[in-house]
Amino acid sequence: MTPLNILVMHGPNLNLLGTREPEHYGSQNLAGINQALVSLGDELGCSVSTFQSNHEGELVDRIHQAAGQVDGIVINPAAYTHTSVALRDALLGCHIPFIEVHLSNVHRREEFRHRSLLVDIATGVIAGFGPDSYSLALRGLCGQLRSQRVADS
Ligand code: DQA
Repeated sequence: MTPLNILVMHGPNLNLLGTREPEHYGSQNLAGINQALVSLGDELGCSVSTFQSNHEGELVDRIHQAAGQVDGIVINPAAYTHTSVALRDALLGCHIPFIEVHLSNVHRREEFRHRSLLVDIATGVIAGFGPDSYSLALRGLCGQLRSQRVADS
């Protein structure tokens, strides 16, 4: 079985996980989350790479680089979820299937967090499970990409 290449992307302020608003985002830091995802990837037969940036353009550039190189993206766009036409256009333009992830249940929070500019073009969305949101997304995405491969073969 050819391994799947999955890119996990984290948007602004997620480098502060562990100390940032633990009542919403828990106490695990980003390095711990990334490490757990790489290990889960090994179990699932996926090669997982990770990227975090506080800058919209860097996230856009990373999506462009991923075109043709990765099979799918797990992305927590953080605050850019609610504002970024640029991320939406990058994901649309590069035709990479992706899962939108949030640590917190954004629908239980302020109204401005209820709107996502990515949700209608995502393969799926997982929110509210803390760091498990990422692992659930990785499992779901890998499963779906594998089924797709079987269907295409
Ligand atoms: C978040 C939710 C966003 O509204 C917020 O701006 C974040 C994190 C989450 O993971 O719950 O930075 O994406």
